[in-house]
Amino acid sequence: MTQKNPSRRSFLKSSSLAAAAVSLKGSVSLAQSKQVDGYIDVLPSEPIAEISDEIYGHFIEHLGGVIYDGVWVGEGSKIANVNGIRKAFIDTMRDVKAPVLRWPGGCFADSYDWHDGVGPRSKRPARAGFWKQQESNQYGLHEFMHTCTAIGAKPYLAANLRTQPARDFYQQIEYCNAPSGNIPSNSAAPAMPNGLAAQRAANGDKEPFNVDLWGVGNESWGCGGNMTPEEYAAEFRRFTAWTPTYGDTPLRFIAVGPNGDDVDWTTRLFKALYGNPERRHLWGLSIHYYTSGSPTKFAAGDALKFNDDEYYDLLTRGSLMEKVITDCWTAISNATPNSLANERSHDFAVKLVVDEWGAWYGKGTELAPEYNLSQQSTMRDALLTGITLDTFHRHSDKVGAAAVAQSINCIHSLMLAQGDKFCVTPTYQVFRMYAPHRGGQSVRASFTAAAIPNPMGETASQVGGNSYIGQLPPIKTLAGLSGSASVKGKTLTLTVVNPHLTQPMTTEIAVRGASIASAKGTVLAEKDVHAHNDFAHPDAVKPSDLASLTPAGGKLVHTFAPASVTSFEITLA
Ligand code: AHR
Repeated sequence: MTQKNPSRRSFLKSSSLAAAAVSLKGSVSLAQSKQVDGYIDVLPSEPIAEISDEIYGHFIEHLGGVIYDGVWVGEGSKIANVNGIRKAFIDTMRDVKAPVLRWPGGCFADSYDWHDGVGPRSKRPARAGFWKQQESNQYGLHEFMHTCTAIGAKPYLAANLRTQPARDFYQQIEYCNAPSGNIPSNSAAPAMPNGLAAQRAANGDKEPFNVDLWGVGNESWGCGGNMTPEEYAAEFRRFTAWTPTYGDTPLRFIAVGPNGDDVDWTTRLFKALYGNPERRHLWGLSIHYYTSGSPTKFAAGDALKFNDDEYYDLLTRGSLMEKVITDCWTAISNATPNSLANERSHDFAVKLVVDEWGAWYGKGTELAPEYNLSQQSTMRDALLTGITLDTFHRHSDKVGAAAVAQSINCIHSLMLAQGDKFCVTPTYQVFRMYAPHRGGQSVRASFTAAAIPNPMGETASQVGGNSYIGQLPPIKTLAGLSGSASVKGKTLTLTVVNPHLTQPMTTEIAVRGASIASAKGTVLAEKDVHAHNDFAHPDAVKPSDLASLTPAGGKLVHTFAPASVTSFEITLA
């Protein structure tokens, strides 16, 4: 049943006491002198793993206004561009140091013929695209590679497994990665040039693209072919077995993993894959988890119009990313009891690749009808972004890469663009604020604050009934404070989300075995969680620096603003 504000207020009042009561610190000095609502204990002696840069990856698909208008405006456009690619897109992706860019889908990938998008643009065929919109093929493989180069991102190609044979797949690898020049001949026959590399060179790129990340199909349990895990395992092996490598470029194949918390898919897939010892190149397992709707609605309500209950419900369901990750990891271990346990101690463990994530709302805030699945983003989405990235950090031993869906003009975007209009979203701000974590050593941290009951926990959030999302249990509580910590030498990066709509959270922050010498920080918080940027108000939501942070006794007491995301740079003594 929906809780009304009075009961929430009384709950929040008692949360201070509850947090103080369960302090892990063994010291109540601060709690005695000043009431605190929570504690954060960072444990540098408990390392988790290095935070992979690739957790901060991106995704663009031929869908709505993502590619055409968002990324590609064409060389003759009046909109500022670099060889046809929107300059603001490049600049923003450079700004967030996008490490990886996934393309061309999504569902689009499994009906896409990569041959259509190479060669002179004037000769490329128009096709009916997956998303029921014309595909002009003006943006193809070379344009995508040039986009990656301009950004400084690694390409991550999602290959077509549903409507093209394995032959097209390995030839696409050859086209991308084979060096120009002669194929070495081991017989008396004269060496001859590699035909696909020559074609690539004729199409403008003599040097190989050296693509190492390859998604083998997309959502093969759904739009990628409605396959069973066993059927997909057979296809995966056929596509990847004996695929040639070129030069020094390894092939990191990513298999289609579960839809949300679909443990059955993962279990059966790994039993089928590991039933055959030849599984080389299986680098990662994709996970798609969107924070979407209730049993009866796929989408999670309106992006802009939401009440308090819907706010808490969305964040609570988003925080289930943690369960999705750990359940998937456990399923892999259980399905491969001997082999994977050994591999865990080496670098060979399969990485989880959460290559589609974000809050997916219903129609109503799209830029225009043809911008299918574009939506607005508010402070609520900034908090979801923080909760999600923190979850990836806390599981940096499992999550090797990720991609937000999608970078521009789509579900959980960092950017919105329409013609010559452009703005960034609150999600972009969080990507920037969290950047110092990248490459750091994730360490354990405990966040102690009373949990927030999800006011819709018994109703809309029973997402287990939605077969699209995978099975999730009723979702009843949201962490009262959450975050992650990482260290680089003497510098500790700590990021914290306070989801309470009205409650500031006064919190004692301590680092076990070290003292806090100094700290600075940035906060993203607005009076109204509905706050968002749009073309007329591109800077409505932006972070600000925290005023003086003064540690005392090696600890820091800080009051987190309601509905805020905070990033600290802490120097340890
Ligand atoms: O990101 C939009 C769509 O969501 C993708 O095409 C598909 O993979 C997923 O279902």
